[in-house]
Amino acid sequence: MNFEFSAPQRILFGPGTLKQAGPLARGLGRRALIVTGRDPARAAPLLDMLKAHGISAVVFPIPGEPTTDMVRRGTARALETGAELVVGFGGGSPLDSAKAIAALAANGGDPLDYMEVVGRGQPLLKPSLPLLAIPTTAGTGSEVTRNAVLASPEHGVKASLRSLTMVPRLALVDPELTFDLPPAVTASTGLDALTQLIEPFTCNRSNPLVDALCRAGIARVARSLRRAWADGRDAAAREDMALASLFGGFALANAGLGAVHGFSGVVGGMFKAPHGAVCAALLPHVMAMNRAALQRRQPRSSILARYDEVARLLTGDADAVAEDGVAWVRELTTALGVPSLAACGVANSDVPVIVERAAVASGTKANPVELTRAELVEILEGAI
Ligand SMILES: [Fe+2]
Repeated sequence: MNFEFSAPQRILFGPGTLKQAGPLARGLGRRALIVTGRDPARAAPLLDMLKAHGISAVVFPIPGEPTTDMVRRGTARALETGAELVVGFGGGSPLDSAKAIAALAANGGDPLDYMEVVGRGQPLLKPSLPLLAIPTTAGTGSEVTRNAVLASPEHGVKASLRSLTMVPRLALVDPELTFDLPPAVTASTGLDALTQLIEPFTCNRSNPLVDALCRAGIARVARSLRRAWADGRDAAAREDMALASLFGGFALANAGLGAVHGFSGVVGGMFKAPHGAVCAALLPHVMAMNRAALQRRQPRSSILARYDEVARLLTGDADAVAEDGVAWVRELTTALGVPSLAACGVANSDVPVIVERAAVASGTKANPVELTRAELVEILEGAI
């Protein structure tokens, strides 16, 4: 068995850890670019802490899911202000943007020089600017991953910048930062976390370290996502979800994902839809199809038993089998009011284009079994 595992140099986890942002950032430099979500006012307490530690900060807000152009502008801002460090504060969009900006500010060039699939795929050779990642949602795990997902509007898809040099130097995970998330965001980000635990656990590149994190993370989502959605101030549930998100980040970065993320990258590039909602709509269909395809073509695959184990972790029932897990995910998605793909604007006429693009997406490569075009069509039509 061979595997490797990458992680930030330090991870600080726990309620109230935001207070440590000042001294941590001061250890990385004196001039910071702070990449936030669309409302930079949410970062005001952070900015006060940085100021108190003698750090001059320039704020760069990301107004939605990041594009190549936003990253170009953020990189220019980092260079013209002489930023010595980058702080990402927010959901997956600002964190991914911060990682891309920290990489490009150090390496020079354009995002498309380095991006997978749509770009030239050159390696990022120089270390990124030091990066402190502070998530304020519980879903993407971006604070510990090595890629940044960017939309390329000229290509109409999302694709990644990916390099070991992009793993943030420091990750600070304070579950209290997620208390104010509205229920719809709790649902979509939490279901992204769940997908990012189930896909690595059942992918073709898993390893024992990732497996342990996935088992622990899936159980936490199962017991806490509904509670965090119903009561955002349920501290124990928020802590579980922040941990599940962190574990999912480790899992996807160190194993891989599957067809849900292959599809969701394509759909997210073509439609304005929350990433987690797209994943949630696809997840039960991909689980069911992967299992059926494995039974047909690789009946001895050890992954088949893993779908039964996922079902036991989700339902808490020692006798549960794969179908029960699929049904559990479906029920949860309905209970949390996650919109269907149709509600996100996806129509049956879009199926051929989405399937062609998803078949070559990087997420699809670690799917436990190669799916045929007909199987991909069936999944997508089911999710619409
Ligand atoms: Fe995801």
